[in-house]
Amino acid sequence: MMILAPSILAADFAILGEQIREIDEAGAQHVHIDVMDGVCVPSISFGFPIIESIRPVTKRFFDVHLMIVEPERYIDRFADAGADGITIHVEASKCVGQTLEKIRGLGLKAGISLHPQTPVSEIMPYLDQVDKVLVMTVNTGFGGQKYIEACTKKIIDIRKAIQERGLSVDVEVDGGVNKENAASIIEAGANILVSGSSVFNGNITENVTYFLDVLKRFES
Ligand code: DX5
Ligand code: ZN
Repeated sequence: MMILAPSILAADFAILGEQIREIDEAGAQHVHIDVMDGVCVPSISFGFPIIESIRPVTKRFFDVHLMIVEPERYIDRFADAGADGITIHVEASKCVGQTLEKIRGLGLKAGISLHPQTPVSEIMPYLDQVDKVLVMTVNTGFGGQKYIEACTKKIIDIRKAIQERGLSVDVEVDGGVNKENAASIIEAGANILVSGSSVFNGNITENVTYFLDVLKRFES
């Protein structure tokens, strides 16, 4: 399935609920929620109280991207806060396999992510334990950066490995996705596009509609 996951990191937090309602009504299937702890990545974003307070605003899938060290400490808490899927970073945990199992055990979708500097070989051992791979295509931790072209090869390699193993795993691309490069990122193998600034800057409904139209062209 082809999916748009707007990242609320780029939303206006003064009217966060309203903006989430707008992406929902425009048809975006997921809400991408970036949690940062200032250790795994340099920045700090938000945590449980925000997720809990936006949970009643929409029924859409809450795609929680944990950029925190030792995410295993908090899986239950994010599940309780309303996550539908939780993605952890391969670099951030000493017990990646167990943590993915824990996420699935709670009935949630499990994802694995990697920083742009991390080789794809690091995530390969976990491919059959995940529902998605989230490929970071900017330096993890900040929105509004330029897509790193060299990461396209990682998308291609991951999609190829998934196909070769006969698995059904989503490939989600996060960072610098915009109207110009969306189609080529999908062509490389992505079926979930995360977009922060290109959705929330300007007319949100128009932006969502644009991305959904591009995604629809590739729906088989
Ligand atoms: C960065 C976050 C991204 C970010 C993307 O570490 O994981 O989700 O919000 O923002 P844009 O689309 O502006 O690059
Ligand atoms: Zn993200």
